[in-house]
Amino acid sequence: MRVLFAALFIAAGQRLAYGADALREEMLNLANDKSCSLCHSIESPKASADRLLPFAPAWKDIARKYRGQKEAEDRLTRIVLGGTGASPDGRHWQNKVRDPFMLSNASEISEVDARRLMHWILSLDQ
Ligand code: HEC
Repeated sequence: MRVLFAALFIAAGQRLAYGADALREEMLNLANDKSCSLCHSIESPKASADRLLPFAPAWKDIARKYRGQKEAEDRLTRIVLGGTGASPDGRHWQNKVRDPFMLSNASEISEVDARRLMHWILSLDQ
């Protein structure tokens, strides 16, 4: 019986590990398919004097910035679809990124996919 429990426990652990990796791969593929990865990367590049700013905020920096904000997933899903606009009010990364703003992605990605991607991105803050 104990062996059976141990086997079940290990199987469940493997499933969990596989689930996280599979989700990561699926989300990275989605970000590639929908062109997000042209501008965004997972990690921010290491800072150095001769380095240009990144085009767009890294996924992990976005997760850190909005950590603990319950409505962030909704708000950022809308921003992904609508874009940030050029007005300084809409810009949350001014002077931290090279691109002047983000265009609307509504013709690229559905609301459902944008929300799934945001849910995953916001989980990357550990
Ligand atoms: C052409 C470049 C480009 C592409 C493609 C792009 N983004 Fe962005 N994105 C940016 C820039 C630049 C910013 C920072 C805008 C600002 O200053 O607030 C940004 C900001 C964001 C933010 C943070 C918004 C905020 O208000 O903090 C999220 C989330 C985001 N992008 C998700 C996505 C997703 C998801 C996709 C793909 C569907 C995508 N982006 C495609 C350039 C891009």
